[in-house]
Amino acid sequence: MPDSVDKEGMLAGKVAIVTGGTEGIGRGIAEVLGRAGAQVAVASRREDAVAATERELVDLGIDALGMATDVRDVPSVAGLIGAVRDRFGGIDILVNSAGGSFNDSFDRGPILQLRSEDLIEGYRLNVVGTFICTKAVVPEMLARGGGSVVNIGSMAAYSAARGMASYGATKAALNSLTRSMARELAPDIRLNVVAPGHIDTPRTNSRRDAAKRARQLAETPMGRYGTPEDVAAAVMYLVSPAASWVTGEVIRIAGGMGGE
Ligand SMILES: NC(=O)c1ccc[n+]([C@@H]2O[C@H](COP(=O)([O-])OP(=O)(O)OC[C@H]3O[C@@H](n4cnc5c(N)ncnc54)[C@H](OP(=O)(O)O)[C@@H]3O)[C@@H](O)[C@H]2O)c1
Repeated sequence: MPDSVDKEGMLAGKVAIVTGGTEGIGRGIAEVLGRAGAQVAVASRREDAVAATERELVDLGIDALGMATDVRDVPSVAGLIGAVRDRFGGIDILVNSAGGSFNDSFDRGPILQLRSEDLIEGYRLNVVGTFICTKAVVPEMLARGGGSVVNIGSMAAYSAARGMASYGATKAALNSLTRSMARELAPDIRLNVVAPGHIDTPRTNSRRDAAKRARQLAETPMGRYGTPEDVAAAVMYLVSPAASWVTGEVIRIAGGMGGE
């Protein structure tokens, strides 16, 4: 990663929102977009986390805004959009990284122990939250002549891993939603998915014991965990002019996993 902000970089003059931008993959993406010259708004639920991330990004020289937001809540997302418009004048890029798995019944248990309410919560976060944010930015992007949305999916959309049926189903739905929206919103707004494999982030690491690490590395031909910067590099491509003819795609950033 470059160690300074390129004020005349590829994203100079662009405004980006990164949901889930306070941690893990989203935090990495926010920094990479900011270092390429974008003005960046990071959104997550916790006031202290958004304030701390805003400070960290500003300390790096990035023009940043942190905004407490729950992506599952329409008024909360409307507040985010209004604040970003007021501060930066518009929106060009949205990265939907808020998401993941949130409890054991949802993502780690046998299917017969999955509670239907957890599956519904999973859809609310991973699918409906992304839908709410994307729908909210469309008028803003159209007012600027177009824009780019990148949704963070998962290789779990493809692999039918035991105990991951619910999480995988939400990420498969996200792929489908993205493709449909891409078709309807072309040519002005491009929407794509980056589907990470196993990524080294503090929260996911805390849930990996030695056996799980061995299994995950064994199914990753590149032999290491990916980093948030590996994912951010794909996001950079998708939001750049180099991807101006790319929409409705899923790019797997997974160290070769799932290629068999
Ligand atoms: N890590 C991996 O190995 C991996 C692999 C494949 C795909 N992914 C996907 O990549 C994305 C990011 O994963 P990660 O590992 O970086 O997650 P993480 O470290 O758990 O961070 C999740 C972020 O989302 C925010 N968030 C959670 N619920 C939210 C809500 N309702 N509204 C707004 N913000 C919310 C969290 O902040 P608050 O708590 O403050 O809300 C946090 O900033 C997810 O979509 C995940 O499914 C991750």
